[in-house]
Amino acid sequence: MRNDGNETQMSSTAHEREKERVTTTQVLKMNKIVYVILQAVLQLAGSTSLRFIKPNVVALEVSDLSSFDVLLQCGEQYKGEQIYWERNGESISETGNHITVAIDGLHGGNFTCHRPNRDLLNYTLLLVHPVEFPKGGVLIRSIDKEFISCTARSYNGQFHCSWKWHQERIQRAVVYFKAIRNSSIINCTLDSDISGLTCIDKDYCPYSEESRSINFTLLVRNLYRLEEHQRTFLIRDIVKPDKVSITKIQDDVFEWHPPETWSVPCSFFPLSYEVKVVPNNHSCDYTGSRVKENKTNESHYKVKFKKAYTFCVRAQDLLTKKVWGDWGHHHQRKHRHISEK
Ligand SMILES: *[C@@H]1O[C@H](CO)[C@@H](O)[C@H](O)[C@H]1NC(C)=O
Ligand SMILES: *[C@@H]1O[C@H](CO)[C@@H](O)[C@H](O)[C@H]1NC(C)=O
Ligand SMILES: *[C@@H]1O[C@H](CO)[C@@H](O)[C@H](O)[C@H]1NC(C)=O
Ligand SMILES: *[C@@H]1O[C@H](CO)[C@@H](O)[C@H](O)[C@H]1NC(C)=O
Ligand SMILES: *[C@@H]1O[C@H](CO)[C@@H](O)[C@H](O)[C@H]1NC(C)=O
Ligand SMILES: *[C@@H]1O[C@H](CO)[C@@H](O)[C@H](O)[C@H]1NC(C)=O
Ligand SMILES: *[C@@H]1O[C@H](CO)[C@@H](O)[C@H](O)[C@H]1NC(C)=O
Ligand SMILES: *[C@@H]1O[C@H](CO)[C@@H](O)[C@H](O)[C@H]1NC(C)=O
Repeated sequence: MRNDGNETQMSSTAHEREKERVTTTQVLKMNKIVYVILQAVLQLAGSTSLRFIKPNVVALEVSDLSSFDVLLQCGEQYKGEQIYWERNGESISETGNHITVAIDGLHGGNFTCHRPNRDLLNYTLLLVHPVEFPKGGVLIRSIDKEFISCTARSYNGQFHCSWKWHQERIQRAVVYFKAIRNSSIINCTLDSDISGLTCIDKDYCPYSEESRSINFTLLVRNLYRLEEHQRTFLIRDIVKPDKVSITKIQDDVFEWHPPETWSVPCSFFPLSYEVKVVPNNHSCDYTGSRVKENKTNESHYKVKFKKAYTFCVRAQDLLTKKVWGDWGHHHQRKHRHISEK
């Protein structure tokens, strides 16, 4: 259990459960196998805790999906008042400022407390976070095998992180996100489709060595199931130049420029390029025979190819050589050869 002040251990009857199990285990001590199994259960039960996520939102951190009792409070100032509760909009029998509710499996809930006339006083969204479960219930891994992909189009301190929702999780929501570097919070804005974030690190200096990494935390939920994801990275490791746009300056001679979004001056932020000539009208990802590839630091190229082809170029930061940008392309027809057929 972490101890960063963000988490609060609230009263749960887990330790009462524990006592019961201790007694049971003593009785069964003779059977070693049963004893070992019960001890494992006991340790799991002991690791239940309630974690504060943000105002009105808490997560029950569980390592198994048994039933846990959680104590909820409507509010300090409502002591002694007549208070009624609802769980997800439906009345429950528990009353009073403090109530104990049973949380089974992933069935958390939105607990609202009311005056006798039904006026809303307060609420607690109680989520369940199965900590030792394999991740992937709410989000799915993308092609790079990560749940969260982050890229930067330049060294201006701006970056974008994105994720993919499991398609069956339709009660999805982003609960919390935070990007920090050297204890400073980075300003991030959630994209309108809630599948990405755009962040700007105002303290980032493109001209100096980047010594501390960015820590990014994302909490998502589907209904009441909470999932936590983290990524740690440096801007220089995620920088991915945009697509280059190609101009044909002569037959078979092409020219391009660094993407407009790329950092200036070019002398300080050099790019290297990969050039690819793909026969016929295949896409730039085509990998058949007769594909020609070359690397260049120049921004022009003369193609020697007799038939119709697609000319492709992509850029990479020459100094870090980490991530290739997407292919820019130009289709080159050869009328002579088409008419020969
Ligand atoms: C409402 O409930 C939350 C717990 O979800 C608690 O932190 C907060 O203090 C309560 N607000 C008031 C006004 O009592
Ligand atoms: C929980 O209930 C409160 C009070 O009705 C409401 O403002 C909030 O949006 C609800 N949250 C969810 C996730 O249902
Ligand atoms: C990290 O923050 C501390 C305190 O704010 C500061 O003194 C230090 O220079 C920072 N380090 C970097 C690498 O930015
Ligand atoms: C954070 O970024 C958004 C969007 O760029 C901007 O509107 C907002 O003012 C920024 N907030 C702070 C505290 O810098
Ligand atoms: C950033 O994340 C790494 C690994 O996830 C962790 O070891 C480190 O303590 C974190 N740093 C901060 C400042 O939270
Ligand atoms: C090549 O393919 C593109 C789409 O990928 C299409 O727009 C274009 O017309 C094609 N050119 C020829 C000569 O087939
Ligand atoms: C690769 O490009 C360079 C110029 O950038 C050129 O000199 C060289 O001949 C090219 N190699 C091939 C195999 O086309
Ligand atoms: C591009 O420049 C880098 C650094 O100056 C050099 O190491 C590399 O060989 C060059 N690549 C080509 C294809 O000229």
